[in-house]
Formats: sequence, structure tokens, C-alpha cells
Amino acid sequence: MSYLEIKDLEISFPTPEGKYVAVRDINLSIEKGEIISIIGHSGCGKSTIMNAIGGMTIPTGGSVELAGKKIKGPGPDRGIVFQNYSLLPWLTVYQNIFQAVDAVMDCSKKEKQEIVTNNLSMVSLLQHKDKLPGQLSGGMKQRVAIARAFAINPGVLLLDEPFGALDALTKGTMQLELLKLWNLSGRDKTIVMITHDIEEAIFLSDRIVVLNNGPASTIREIENVHLPRPRNKIEIVKMPEYLEIRDRLLHLLTDKFSVEDMGVVYKK
Ligand SMILES: Nc1ncnc2c1ncn2[C@@H]1O[C@H](COP(=O)(O)OP(=O)(O)OP(=O)(O)O)[C@@H](O)[C@H]1O
Ligand SMILES: [Mg+2]
Repeated sequence: MSYLEIKDLEISFPTPEGKYVAVRDINLSIEKGEIISIIGHSGCGKSTIMNAIGGMTIPTGGSVELAGKKIKGPGPDRGIVFQNYSLLPWLTVYQNIFQAVDAVMDCSKKEKQEIVTNNLSMVSLLQHKDKLPGQLSGGMKQRVAIARAFAINPGVLLLDEPFGALDALTKGTMQLELLKLWNLSGRDKTIVMITHDIEEAIFLSDRIVVLNNGPASTIREIENVHLPRPRNKIEIVKMPEYLEIRDRLLHLLTDKFSVEDMGVVYKK
């Protein structure tokens, strides 16, 4: 039995047109300390699966178990970065993180304040700590959500496109911060991350789960990434295994590779 077990998972939603099956037959065993990426086209059910692990969505079929126990709701053992950031709009940046730390961490107020400050400087937002979410850019909101999830230091991190709104430089830094957090946990922290970025998925993951298009999405393929760690971004892109995985993922996710594949030929 693995640490995180997804068994025959099916999630359907009632709609005016009847039952909509978002995902079905999802079977995935995740070991403690693994980094897993989920990749697939928009609307294929990635967030739906993540919400089931987070306990926000109750499966209509099958089950999700963590450390041998069926997940029945959210808990402090799982930290989530939601796709829409989900910050409390009436609390400042600082308060948004402090509130989460205060709710789950068992330490003194001074230590909690230190945790919040450290995580805010990790995402370069210390100078914006007194702003409300409404006064932040999309990328800044996303960084607050990342700092909040990292601050509570949960055993399982669930990240729904955590770096999607960030510029390339900030994204690179955040990926390294994520790996730093993972290393500091003795590589014991389990990370499940949704991404649309193939290079990011290969750089970070032990395995990459590719989903079919919906409705009723299933797992199309699971790619194992055996590249040695620590990985260096400049070095791995030259490795044959990296190129093989990238090409396979591109073929799985793309059916057109040039404008001519779309029947358009430029004529002078
Ligand atoms: N509460 C709901 N009620 C009805 N349908 C829903 C609900 N939540 C999700 N769905 C449907 O389930 C499917 C999967 O949605 P989901 O949000 O998991 O996609 P996704 O893979 O995360 O997409 P994206 O990459 O755009 O974030 C979509 O067709 C969506 O419309
Ligand atoms: Mg989504």
C-alpha cells in the first residue's frame, strides 16, 4: 500500500443536462517523498483530481487514501495552492499567511511571525506585506498563495498550476525554492503538481501523469523521469533521456507542430 492511493476514482457532477463524468478509472499509487506532475489539456480534469486529494471534492466512485486512511475532507497534512489563489480578500498579504500558520502550527507567536516573514521574503513580497489581495498583480497573488502553502510545511503539497502566472525568471526561482523545501524535508515531502509546462514537469518530477481529454478522462500514460538529482537545468536539457521524454510528451499533447499542419501554406 502506497502513501497516497487513488483507486478507481470517478468524479461526476450533476448538470442541467444530466450527470457529467469528469474523470473515471483513475488509479495512481504515490510513494512518500515522490514529486508527481499531472499534465493534460484544459478541462480534462486535473483540478478535479487535485480537489479530491485535497478533500474539497468527494469522489462519486472509488477512493483516495492518505497513509491508509480514506480522505474525507481537507486537513493540515495537505497544503494546497489553488489555481485561483483563494486568498481572503479582507486580510493583508501578511495576515493571509499568518492566519494559516496560526491555525495549524504548534509554536510561539514569535516563531509564527518569523515563519511568515521568512516565507514572504522567499517570494520577494516582504515590502508588500500590508497590501490587500485586491491591490496585487496576478503573479503577486500567486506568490502569496505559494508562501502560504510552504509556510505551513505540510507533508503533502498540492499545487494547481502554482507558477502559471509568473514570468520566466520568477518561475525558475520558485521551482528551485520548491526543490529546496523538498530537500530540507529530507525529500520526505510528497508533491503533486499540475502544470502545462513540459520542461517544468521534467525538471521537477519523478513521474509525469498525462491525462486524456475529457469528458470521462482517464490516465493516458505515465512517464518515469530517471534523470539524476540534483538536476541542473542547463545540463539536463542536453541529456538524451530528457529529449526523449520531452518528445514523447509533445507528441501526446500536441497533434499539430507547424502552421502547415493546419493546412496553411504561405504563398508570396
Ligand atoms: N462543480 C462542477 N460542476 C460541473 N462541472 C464541473 C465542475 N467542476 C468541474 N467541472 C467540469 O469538469 C471538467 C474538468 O474540470 P477541471 O477544472 O478539473 O479541469 P482542468 O483539467 O483543471 O482544466 P484547466 O487546465 O483549464 O484548469 C470540466 O469539463 C469542467 O467543466
Ligand atoms: Mg485546473
